[in-house]
Amino acid sequence: MADDAGSMPTTQSELAVRPAGPCAMVIFGAGGDLTKRLVVPALYNLASSGLLPRDFALIGVDAADLTTDQWRQRLAEMMQQSAKGGGEFSADGTNPEVWGMLSGRMTYLRGDFGEAATFTRLADVLAETARAYGTGGNVLFYLAVADRFFGPLTEQLAAAGLVDEQDGARWRRVIVEKPFGHDLASARALNTRLLKILTEQQIYRIDHFLGKETVQSIMAVRFANGFFEPVWNRDHIDHVQITVAETVGVERRGRFYEQTGALRDMVPNHLFQLLTMVAMEPPTGFDPDAVRNRKADVLNAIPPVQPSCAVRGQYGRGQVLDRAVDDYRDEPDVAADSNTETYAALKLEIDTWRWAGVPFYLRTGKAMRKRWTEIAIRFRRAPLSLFRGTDAVNLGPNWLVLQIQPDEGISLQFDVKRPGQGVTLAPVRMSLLYKDWFPAMPNVGYETLIYDCMIGDATLFQRADMVEAGWRIVQPLQEAWAVEKPADFPNYQAGGAGPAAADELLADDDGRGWRPINHNS
Ligand code: BG6
Repeated sequence: MADDAGSMPTTQSELAVRPAGPCAMVIFGAGGDLTKRLVVPALYNLASSGLLPRDFALIGVDAADLTTDQWRQRLAEMMQQSAKGGGEFSADGTNPEVWGMLSGRMTYLRGDFGEAATFTRLADVLAETARAYGTGGNVLFYLAVADRFFGPLTEQLAAAGLVDEQDGARWRRVIVEKPFGHDLASARALNTRLLKILTEQQIYRIDHFLGKETVQSIMAVRFANGFFEPVWNRDHIDHVQITVAETVGVERRGRFYEQTGALRDMVPNHLFQLLTMVAMEPPTGFDPDAVRNRKADVLNAIPPVQPSCAVRGQYGRGQVLDRAVDDYRDEPDVAADSNTETYAALKLEIDTWRWAGVPFYLRTGKAMRKRWTEIAIRFRRAPLSLFRGTDAVNLGPNWLVLQIQPDEGISLQFDVKRPGQGVTLAPVRMSLLYKDWFPAMPNVGYETLIYDCMIGDATLFQRADMVEAGWRIVQPLQEAWAVEKPADFPNYQAGGAGPAAADELLADDDGRGWRPINHNS
């Protein structure tokens, strides 16, 4: 037990977590990458930690001609491969008992998403599994498919009577993957289309950044401790930097990425989720709308970003870690004269009493120096009068850094007196790594999200208004970048920290500068 004398707090969470109630889960896109790499391993991890419903069935739907055994076999191979390659989901390999239990509840249904017959057969399979496994008629539909299927699939489900909750006698929920639209108009249209069929409470729009443990813990850090909140405002904070740097390029996703680019792919969704966690007011409770209302308030207080407050980039050849990387324009399925950005940086304002005048700088890029995700909060300088005549004027600023990837932790940079004669000051860093305090949990990042959907907790999912607010903020940029061709692409080297122009975004402001990527090394 922690006590006031400062002994080590207990490292084991004592939260009472129970298995979710009875349900079946239907995955559309059962043969896809997302299912194999993330959704099924997450189900395995839930099963292994006793959180999967005891009365559970998993139905995979896809167009490929597979039997249930072949589908199970493919998933099992993927699990083995992943375990060998460093235990992405399970540090000590797959436990045969847990896998046996999970795979024994799987059924594969071959079917075209556009054909009504697929859904009639699905209704039969669901009725059978409800009888065989006692799922109580509750169903979670997971749309792990390309976004063009979101609307039609939901309509087919409705036509087959599969989303009807029969006045609360059972629940039917739909998880919708990213991307939710590609701009404000398409997101609105998709919301309207889905909301004709489903209630908002039935729709779970996923942003997988919210499944990351450290992202969820931002609220705990801010609101469970007495000393952050009093300084968490414009009186004490100079600015905030949010960085999501990736080492990967576009890999096999050239076709998708050409249509998408860094702004759409990362900013209105993942980066804005990080931003709302940092900037939101304390919610009045943990119920989904209490939290989401406060997050929506933040997005609604951000004026649309003008092109003069943003910088885009595209990588040219270089070296990322020990890998030689070609120009983005030489990647498979990428146009030789592509204008798609692989990097975006933005300066945002939040027009509230708490944040007026505090810039939020956001940046994200592919083929960067290091995989590095952090939220860095820079505090205002202390008055220096006491240290006039010393080297204090050269002091580094005070930073609080919430580190999300690759290591999860928190650090605080501040100044101390250097030991010895005279007054010379030096910046030091106090760091905490979560892994030093808590046992590592096998986690692919989807466990919490799937579990929450099963128990009907939408706190970590995006509401219609939040998605639309995100797109509204970036709309002027999307419009400008679509018509103004960048003259200087490629403008950053693979393995670097992004285009030089992004430095100017901050340099104009009171000598601020981006933090180095990979700050701890
Ligand atoms: C996805 C983007 O949503 O997030 C990818 O489409 C990106 O381009 C990925 O690489 C990053 O997620 P993570 O969890 O690997 O940081």
